[in-house]
Amino acid sequence: MCGIVAYIGGQDATPIVVDGLKKLEYRGYDSAGIAILDDGKIEIRRAAGKVALLETLIEKNPVQGTTGIGHTRWATHGAPSELNAHPHLGMAGRIVIVHNGIVENYLSLKEELVSEGVVFKSETDTETIAHLIEIFYNETNDLTAAVQKALKMIKGAHGLVVMSTVEPEKLIAARLGNAGGVALGIGENEMFIASDIPAIMGHTRKIVFLESGQFAIVRRDGFSIHDLEGNPVKSEIQNIPWDPIFAEKGKYRHFMQKEIHEQVRSLSDTLSGRVDFQDYRIILPGLNLNKEKAQKIKKIFITACGTAAYAGMVGKYLIEHIARIPVEVMVASEFRYCDPILEDGTVVLAISQSGETADTLAAMEEARKKGATLWSIVNAIGSQAIRIADGCISMQVGPEIGVASTKAFTAPILDLYMIAVYLADLRGTIDRDRRLELVKDLLTVPSLVEKALENDRAVKQIANRYKDIKGALYIGRGVNMPIAYEGALKLKEISYIHAEGYPAGEMKHGPIALVDKDLPVVVIATQDPWYDKVISQIEQAKARSGKVLAVATEGDELIPTIADEIFWIPKTPWLLSPAVTIIPLQLFAYHIAAFRGLDIDQPRNLAKSVTVE
Ligand code: G6P
Repeated sequence: MCGIVAYIGGQDATPIVVDGLKKLEYRGYDSAGIAILDDGKIEIRRAAGKVALLETLIEKNPVQGTTGIGHTRWATHGAPSELNAHPHLGMAGRIVIVHNGIVENYLSLKEELVSEGVVFKSETDTETIAHLIEIFYNETNDLTAAVQKALKMIKGAHGLVVMSTVEPEKLIAARLGNAGGVALGIGENEMFIASDIPAIMGHTRKIVFLESGQFAIVRRDGFSIHDLEGNPVKSEIQNIPWDPIFAEKGKYRHFMQKEIHEQVRSLSDTLSGRVDFQDYRIILPGLNLNKEKAQKIKKIFITACGTAAYAGMVGKYLIEHIARIPVEVMVASEFRYCDPILEDGTVVLAISQSGETADTLAAMEEARKKGATLWSIVNAIGSQAIRIADGCISMQVGPEIGVASTKAFTAPILDLYMIAVYLADLRGTIDRDRRLELVKDLLTVPSLVEKALENDRAVKQIANRYKDIKGALYIGRGVNMPIAYEGALKLKEISYIHAEGYPAGEMKHGPIALVDKDLPVVVIATQDPWYDKVISQIEQAKARSGKVLAVATEGDELIPTIADEIFWIPKTPWLLSPAVTIIPLQLFAYHIAAFRGLDIDQPRNLAKSVTVE
């Protein structure tokens, strides 16, 4: 979950690396540092806290050079302090590294190194790698061989970049397992390296992604990629179409706010190229399906973490209702432990914004081992969850920077709906008329989301009235039950208010005991098949003096007579309503956190991409 940036070329590396770190800060942000090769010497600047503090430090104590590496950290081993911040030096100060991941055998390695007289300066596991490389370099006088040897000794998943005074004309980057990506950016007589491409997209769109078990020797005029034995491997240069403007906040105060409002466009992009307007068919070539293969599917297991898992829960309703295929949803961190029964005809579908979440990748690996067909819905181009899947749907929403996921929640809802319609069509579960109806409904979603966003000001006023609440209960039913979970998660993540999501029908089995005048109950009460049942739950909360905040369909005349506050949304086909009912709840959480003056894009203790298990 940390971020890595590196540069080798003819320009001053410091601003390039620092600027890249700022773009990666959303991955981890408790400390940051750079190392620059300045006239044959390694100069390090590190600071606890955000990249801005590092920048101030560099202003006071500048450093220049044409080769540099940088890191922004989310602590795993050792507190977030200046000493534990990367880069880390080998004992003789000739080798310096930045690293993502956890050295699983670091305790035994450290013990061995200490017994050989190595003095550790930090509490990090990363430092072991720097020392190992330096010791092996002393033996071989060959940096590449030293790095190879060290890579073979460390256990776990890693992404790293090595710089040295002994072979200053090169950087060595490596990837082992799934500790985040390592991408090389190709420039004109200059090269960039980053764990995530927004860091370098302002400089180049020509990108090569390292696979697990590969390292790259990177010089200013080119690179070569090798396996751990040193054999050269072929690489594919990809031209990435994303615009770096995406990664800018534009007129918005926060990335999260921008991303909430971007959903009209991101959902249009999600549909783009997937709907055949000739006869209203869905086409998902990325899944590599045909009628025969579709008919063989007996069960779909959806696995994901956090927000992506809640999107998966919506998917269960959609696929079961439309395609009549049984679907089970399991959070990825539990997938392995439930010893999933993956018989012939089982598809495991992973959903992930980053495509690098360690638990999700581990679930995919488990599914692969057990012989299931692997699909993924992923946003980050080139990520592992795309590469290891048999079939993939790209979210097409552009980079999501705010830690609390928004546009990467609504896009997979539409992707799952499209999967449902596509499967139903291939399996003959729906006829042409039904397909037409379903696809036409789908096409209305971006404009319905736009209408829901037009009520932003009204949501903000409600948020102002509730900004001091101590807790909240969110309830929903049917396809909107996961929206209760996701709405509550949004509030927790960025406002630090305790919020619980619950299936509305379960309220009477426990949570109703909490309801009093101080606990607002947010109810998704739109016009869907269980509307009447939800109304009776509102009555139950009101009977206990609860304050009810209802998400309701415009034109509903009953709701204003019973709810205290209303988040209006336009009339929406009920199967697709989760993509719209979540909008006021995202805005509500956002405005409450903004009123409280909190760090919305980088909330405490969280990271955008969780590459540790
Ligand atoms: C972290 C993020 C969440 C995200 C989850 C899964 O916890 O803070 O916003 O939903 O990871 O991430 P993924 O990249 O796999 O969708």
